[in-house]
Amino acid sequence: MPTNPDDLSDLVNLFDFEKKAEANMTRLAYEYVASGAADEVTLRWNRQAFDAIKLNPTVLADMEKPDTRLSLFGYELPYPILIAPTAYHRLMHPEGELATARGASAARATYVVSSFTTTPLEEIANVASQPLWFQLYVRDDREFTKELIQKAESLGFKAICITVDTPVGGVRNREQRVDFGLPDTLNAPYMIAPGPQKKPVTWKDIEWLKSAVNIPVLVKGILNPNDAVRAIQTGVSGIIVSNHGGRNLDTVPATIDVLPYIVERVANRVPILMDGGIRRGTDVLKAIALGAKAVLVGKPICYGVACGGAAGVAKVMTILKEELELAMILTGRPTLADIEKSVLWNPL
Ligand code: FNR
Repeated sequence: MPTNPDDLSDLVNLFDFEKKAEANMTRLAYEYVASGAADEVTLRWNRQAFDAIKLNPTVLADMEKPDTRLSLFGYELPYPILIAPTAYHRLMHPEGELATARGASAARATYVVSSFTTTPLEEIANVASQPLWFQLYVRDDREFTKELIQKAESLGFKAICITVDTPVGGVRNREQRVDFGLPDTLNAPYMIAPGPQKKPVTWKDIEWLKSAVNIPVLVKGILNPNDAVRAIQTGVSGIIVSNHGGRNLDTVPATIDVLPYIVERVANRVPILMDGGIRRGTDVLKAIALGAKAVLVGKPICYGVACGGAAGVAKVMTILKEELELAMILTGRPTLADIEKSVLWNPL
C-alpha cells in the first residue's frame, strides 16, 4: 500500500528512503533509478566493500563539536557531501530539479546538475541559494557542448564535471523489462536525441573544453590510476572516482576499493572526490580516511526527491551529515584532517 509520500517522519536512514520510494514511485521510475548494469555485481560490491572496512576508534579525544567544514575550489562547504548528477528528476517528483535544488539549498549542499536535467539551468539557478556545479555529457555537436558549459558558467555554476565513463550506457536489464523511456510529457532540453554519439570523446576534447571556461573542470568516472595521471596531465582541477553507481560496466571494482590506488598516484596534485554506495556517515568517514576530499550521493537523492520533494532531499543530506558527525565523535576525530588511515582497523 503506498504511504503518504510527503510524510517523512518514519524515515530514519537512507535505506528507509529507498523502501518508501519503491512503494510510491511508478514502477518505470523506480526500476530506472535502482537499476545496475547486467548482473549488478558492481552495484552490490559498492555497498559490500564499505561494510567490509572496520573502524578503529580513539576514546577520550579532547573535542567539543566535530568540525566537518572543508574548502574546495575556493569556497567553503559545511560538510564533505555533494549531490551527484542524476537524470530526469521530473520523473521522480513533479517539481523535479527545482525540488532538488531547493532541498540542497536547505541542507547547504552543493548540487551537481545532470546534463539530463528535465528543467532548464536558468530555472534551477533561480531557486538555488547554495553552489551548483554542472555535469556535462560531451555531444557530437561540439559547438553546442561548448556553449552549454559557457552558459552554466555565466549562470554562476561553480564547476563543470565531464563524465567520461559513458561512451555508451551499460546493459540495463531492469530498464529493458519496463521498456524504459522518458514519457512524452517530459523532456531533457540539453540531451535532444540521446544515445551513442558518433564522434568519440577523447582527452583532446577535455583539454579544449577546459580552455572554454574559467571555472574548475573535473573528470567524473575515473577508475584506472593511469587515467587519473592522464587527467592531471590534461590539466583538470579535480577527479571524481566513480563507477557510475554500478550502472555501466559490471564487475569493475567498488569505488572505495579503487580509491587508495588513485590517491597514491595523484599524490595530492588535485582533489579527489568519489561516489558509489555512500549510504552512512561511516561510509563518508571511510572515504575520507582513504584520501577522498569529499563524496557524492546519487540514488538516495532520487529516492529523497521521490519521497518528499525538496524536504526529502534536505532530509537525506541532513541524516548523512549528522551520521558523519556522530562517526567523528565516536572515532575521536575532531576535524576532517584528523580522519586518516589510522581510523581504519588494521589487522595484525
Ligand atoms: C546516475 N548517474 C549519472 N551520472 C552522470 O554523470 N550523469 C547522469 O546523468 C547520471 N544519471 C544517473 C541517473 C540515476 C538514476 C543514477 C542512480 C545515477 C551516476 C551518479 O552521478 C553517481 O555516479 C552514482 O549514482 C553514485 O552512486 P550511488 O550514490 O547512487 O550509489
